[in-house]
This record gives sequence, C-alpha cells and structure tokens, in this order.
Amino acid sequence: MAQKIIITIDGWSSCGKSTLAKQLAKTLGYVYIDSGAMYRAITLFFLRNHIDWTDKVQVKDALGQINLHFEYNEKSLQSEMILNDENVEYVIRDLVIAEKVSDVAAIPAVRKFAVKQQQQMGKHKGIVMDGRDIGTTVFPDAELKIFMTADIAVRVERRFKEMFEKNPNVSIEEVKSNLEMRDYIDSNREVSPLRQAEDAILLDNTHITMEQQLAFAIKLVKEKRAELKLMQNA
Ligand code: DC
Repeated sequence: MAQKIIITIDGWSSCGKSTLAKQLAKTLGYVYIDSGAMYRAITLFFLRNHIDWTDKVQVKDALGQINLHFEYNEKSLQSEMILNDENVEYVIRDLVIAEKVSDVAAIPAVRKFAVKQQQQMGKHKGIVMDGRDIGTTVFPDAELKIFMTADIAVRVERRFKEMFEKNPNVSIEEVKSNLEMRDYIDSNREVSPLRQAEDAILLDNTHITMEQQLAFAIKLVKEKRAELKLMQNA
C-alpha cells in the first residue's frame, strides 16, 4: 500500500479549495478536513452567546465551552461540523457568519484552539486539509502543499451561484464585498496570515475545469509518492 501523506490546500476565499480537497480525498481514500468550518462554528457560538470577542477573558471562557468535531453523514456523503452535539454544517455557511468569521479567526486564542485540534487530526496522516494557514502553520512539514488562486471575478461568480441557490435575496455586490473583506483580513492579520508556503505548488484555476485541476493534483500526489519511495529505498 502506498505511504500515506498529508496534503494541504490553502488559498484565497472561494477559489474551489474544498471542491478539490473533497475530490482528492475521495480518490485517495483519505479523510477530508475543512478547517474553515471550525472557525465558522466558533463564530456561530460567539454570535449566539453574545460574546464580546475583543475581551480576552470572554473569549477564553467561551472557548472552554466549545466542543468541535466532524461526523460523517451517510446521506450527504461528507463530514459535517458538529458544535456541542449540534450539526451546524449548514448554518455556518450563512452570510451572517461569513461577515464575522475573519475577525474571529484573527484572534490568537481562537487560532491556538483550532490549530491544536487540526494537528491532532493529522497524527495518522492520510488527510487532505484545506484552509489559509495549513501549509504554513498547521502542517509546515506536510509532504504535499497546494496553494490555490483564481481571478476575483471568477471567484465572486462561483460563490454567488452557490449562495443564491440557498438564499435568492443575496446580491452579487454583497458577495463581492464579503470576499474582498475576508481576503484582506485573512492576509493581513498578525497571527499566521494567509500566504503561500515557500514549498507550496501554485494552482490557478481561473481557466481550467474541475476535472483538469483534479488530474493536476493527482499527478502531484503520484510524483510525491514516487519521490518518497526513492528516498526510502536509497
Ligand atoms: O474556508 P472558509 O471560507 O470556510 O473559511 C472561513 C474563514 O475562516 C476565512 O475567511 C478565514 C478563516 N480561516 C482561517 O483563518 N484559517 C483557516 N485555516 C481556515 C479558515
């Protein structure tokens, strides 16, 4: 059996990281982990409980009350986010959460809380995790790192279509300003800002199909496995 590795997929908001990560995990028989879902679930808890996240004491106390885990859903065929025994997979995709999540994700205590759990999930390798700091901070020694990007117009269009299906009241301007705001906050925060790891491979999917990007990623996995095998046999 091929040696299991850790694959990290980072990049800008809405450039198809989770689509690629899910397909890759399915093809390889790996576990897919959506690290952004954890920041979204924490944001949901803070909003519901009126936590003032500028107050360190309130944040520390709130984090102590949060239990996060992923549960595989046989019907949707995907791992879903569970916050304190409640399935929040769908509520956390709301624009109300998207508007606040980058602020919450910039809090050092929140990042420490999430990163620790993410690292634990990769202990046995065989995972594909997507996010913003997975290749730089969570798994700096991951065997394969991909950094995704796409033109902003294409990203807005894709996210708008996705959100419009759930909420026909959403406007393209709202989606665009949310994406730009998140990209700005995510890449300018002090703790582990979004950036391409030096050893990450850039994947711009503006002009390629989902099939082409999956083929590209599988080729990278095969090359990496061959390289690791050579190193083992040396
Ligand atoms: O991938 P996503 O859009 O669901 O992520 C939601 C937000 O969470 C994103 O704007 C930034 C933050 N995030 C992060 O800071 N670090 C990660 N590893 C994943 C997400």
